[in-house]
Amino acid sequence: MLPNHWYAIYDATKLTAKKPVAMRRLNQDLVAWRDVVGTARLSVDRCPHRGTKLSAGSIEDGCLTCPYHGFRFETDGTCVHIPASPNSQIPSQMKLATIPVQEDHGLIWMWWGDQEPSPNVPWLNNAPSADSPTAQASELVYPIHYSRMVESNFDLHHFPFVHSNIAGNLPTEVTNIEVNHGEDWITSTAYLGEKDDQKGFRFDSNLKLPNVQVLTIDQRFHIVTIATPIDDTTTWTWARLELLKPNLPFGKKLASKLALKTEFGYIQYRQDIPVLEPMTPTTAQPGSSTFIAADAGAARYVSLRQRALKQAGVPEKRFIQPHPHPSASTPIP
Ligand code: FES
Ligand SMILES: [Fe+2]
Repeated sequence: MLPNHWYAIYDATKLTAKKPVAMRRLNQDLVAWRDVVGTARLSVDRCPHRGTKLSAGSIEDGCLTCPYHGFRFETDGTCVHIPASPNSQIPSQMKLATIPVQEDHGLIWMWWGDQEPSPNVPWLNNAPSADSPTAQASELVYPIHYSRMVESNFDLHHFPFVHSNIAGNLPTEVTNIEVNHGEDWITSTAYLGEKDDQKGFRFDSNLKLPNVQVLTIDQRFHIVTIATPIDDTTTWTWARLELLKPNLPFGKKLASKLALKTEFGYIQYRQDIPVLEPMTPTTAQPGSSTFIAADAGAARYVSLRQRALKQAGVPEKRFIQPHPHPSASTPIP
């Protein structure tokens, strides 16, 4: 995980002022809720009194209220009410650990890192907006490390194999590969088959570190997808899809709903996950792949991610691939 970034953690439309919500993100148990004016709040899901989960409690007058002894916590984490001793001074240590949070693009974002939060969340200009008439959003939990998800979203040449039932007649050769990057972004375009050939299939993938991607599938629809770690082996994935050529007179919403369900729930979950889950190592790291030209976007992601981790002071993990002749490297005693 790259520290000092905003990470999308929840669909903002699902967060209400009625009930706190429990979630695990970036290896932490968290509780989110909305205060009296509707502002999103986030804290570690642990009551400082006796350590139970606050997410099982309630929201009273905008305060997060513990289910165990009814202590109430203000939005900044200050304990403001202890029912068992309402007239005594509240100990200063009775404070909830709050986490910087903001709401943008229809999502709740948390700041993960010890530096001052930056003002803006990571986003891409060509990401479908929630206001688009054909926008549809969905979320899923995938049993893989988030870096494998991001890396796989640059991969075009698996389409005719992993998705053979819908893309089996596509050409297998990757052509016209173009990858550009900056310190924290990548744009990549490539075709299966020839660019001007009727059969040529175009795939665009843009990334903004740490984990925001826009995929454009054959200029028919684009999808903004975010892979946020739950922990080291599971990832919360959110996506919003928009049709680029909604040439249907009606039923556009239904068409985009079906496209999202197919792409996200069926193609990715049923077909990509079975090949991604057994990958070793479980994270995309230096040495983890023997890249070819068609992997240019994925290779660039691994190197940008590694550079960002190095800048954050995280020691490099380099994967050593098994020796091509195992018997030579592992002599039998
Ligand atoms: S454990 Fe939360 S109020 Fe006691
Ligand atoms: Fe795929």
